[in-house]
Amino acid sequence: MTDLSHETPYADGKILTQITDGVGVITFNNPDKRNAMSLEMWEGFGEALTSLRNNDTVRVVIMRGAGGKAFVSGADISQFEKTRHNAAASEEYGKRSAAQRALLADYPKPTIACIQGFCLGGGMQVAMLADIRIAARDSQFGIPAAKLGIAYGYDGLRHLVSLVGPSWARLLMYTGMRIDSTEALRIGLVERVIPDDQLWGETMAIAATISQNAPLAIKAAKITIAEVLKDESARDMDAIKAIGTACMDSADFREGRQAFMEKRKPQFSGK
Ligand code: COA
Repeated sequence: MTDLSHETPYADGKILTQITDGVGVITFNNPDKRNAMSLEMWEGFGEALTSLRNNDTVRVVIMRGAGGKAFVSGADISQFEKTRHNAAASEEYGKRSAAQRALLADYPKPTIACIQGFCLGGGMQVAMLADIRIAARDSQFGIPAAKLGIAYGYDGLRHLVSLVGPSWARLLMYTGMRIDSTEALRIGLVERVIPDDQLWGETMAIAATISQNAPLAIKAAKITIAEVLKDESARDMDAIKAIGTACMDSADFREGRQAFMEKRKPQFSGK
């Protein structure tokens, strides 16, 4: 794991951020509860996302869980009696936690979920909102909503269906079963499975590659892929055109072609 000496705490230290060479890291840090997310942690997560979003030195964000046993084991069930015990309370709870996840859904920078151990319920929501999911071999994935009597909601299921298709989504949701990394890889829930002891190094290597590439070109890909996923009638083709123009008129495009011709590594500025 990384050097933890320069971390910024949110939610009483249960959410941490750190920045290394253009890579922002958010750590879910409640290992005694397998990183279960309290409302305070959802809010701290939102603050952490905002801070890394507004920091120009950060080009890519990795999310991970502390303790080696879980990414996130879902929402903190011990808070449910107070905050989520019926439809009205649940709506308020949903609004507060969904507002933080919306920041991730609309995140302007690339995001990676680095998953080791349990990734359940709300943890799956976070992981599915990331652009890329990389998992350790011993991880477990599931959405036990049917075991608790919870309706998982539109946003979470939209992402699940778009990643694994409706039939796998039904099997996972109806049974509440957990699947391992091999199966998660096979059905398209994660993009890569890595031996546990190499997970962090491999994830950082991918993040470092992204952070050294041209930010506007990555943004163009991110925006265009998001629009491709929308219904044709809702697609914002102007947004695709605008980022395409910004990219092709950029100093970074000039730098990219010059560096290639001069046989050197490009230095991109994001402009
Ligand atoms: N909310 C609140 N507490 C949780 C939690 C959650 N989602 N997940 C784990 N914890 C707590 C446990 O209650 C336990 O607390 P304790 O030490 O005070 O008894 C501690 O974390 C460790 O969990 P434990 O079950 O002993 O560890 P494990 O490694 O055997 O199993 C899980 C880990 C994650 C598989 C299991 O705890 C679990 O199924 N959690 C609930 C997952 C869930 O339903 N998530 C969806 C919520 S919407």
